[in-house]
Amino acid sequence: MNRLAGKRALITGGTSGIGLETAQRFVAEGAQVVVTGVTPASIEKARQTLGDKVPVIQADARDLDAQRGLAERVREHFGELDVAFLNAGVSDWRPFEEHTEDSYDRLFDINVKSVFFLTQALVPVLANPSSVILNASNSAHGGYGHSNAYAATKAAVGSLMRSWNTDLLTSHGIRFNAISPGPVDTPLYRKLGIEDPAQQTAVLEAISSGIPLGRMGKPEEIAEAVVYLASDASAFTVGQDLILDGGQTIF
Ligand SMILES: NC(=O)c1ccc[n+]([C@@H]2O[C@H](COP(=O)([O-])OP(=O)(O)OC[C@H]3O[C@@H](n4cnc5c(N)ncnc54)[C@H](OP(=O)(O)O)[C@@H]3O)[C@@H](O)[C@H]2O)c1
Repeated sequence: MNRLAGKRALITGGTSGIGLETAQRFVAEGAQVVVTGVTPASIEKARQTLGDKVPVIQADARDLDAQRGLAERVREHFGELDVAFLNAGVSDWRPFEEHTEDSYDRLFDINVKSVFFLTQALVPVLANPSSVILNASNSAHGGYGHSNAYAATKAAVGSLMRSWNTDLLTSHGIRFNAISPGPVDTPLYRKLGIEDPAQQTAVLEAISSGIPLGRMGKPEEIAEAVVYLASDASAFTVGQDLILDGGQTIF
């Protein structure tokens, strides 16, 4: 299929999970892709998976100079950008009482502040028309236990997505949409600080049992939606937050 033929795309957090799967789908659909990551081992693995044609750039989302530098590198590489999938993010599930200023700041720095300032830096690079897709979460649409601060970061992302359409659609031809996945089986769940494998399995089973479909989502099921939002097939889709969660939010 060639649904993204000729598109020049940036995927942040393209070294793992949903971002890595989406990068592979984008390439298969004819796009030229640049991805970012932060962890050296993850970057190396992604380079092997994606091959020579996909530059993998290290750009720490917590470092705003690195985000601005990334926009500049994208401009040097592509000239203009047709698609940005702002996907890099971290989760942190912990009881509300156990959050600290550091854990709160880490979530908001990576999930919100970096998205805010990277988007600002990308505005002059984005083509007219272009499509930006933000990765939010269905946790922002519910009231799930232990997701408090994380869910709040994703609610902020949804809010930015809506207001940026007002700021930038008419003036710059940039349309913004979001996806809100429910639990998707990615390495993210091995980064929650749960060391005991038995407890990790119990957490994943508990998550799956709370999803009406009875299972977690697969990264390819999320990538498919991103391909749609990146493609011209969605040209009339503006300001939407697509919930992809096996029915978890509506039941
Ligand atoms: N999995 C789910 O259930 C789920 C549900 C809803 C929403 N989401 C959202 O989907 C997005 C991707 O999550 P995932 O499940 O695919 O997780 P993942 O496998 O852990 O991937 C996270 C990606 O973000 C990158 N990243 C993390 N911290 C970064 C930083 N400081 N600077 C730059 N890049 C950074 C990682 O880079 P390295 O690999 O180089 O460290 C990696 O590429 C996140 O925004 C997450 O909140 C996930």
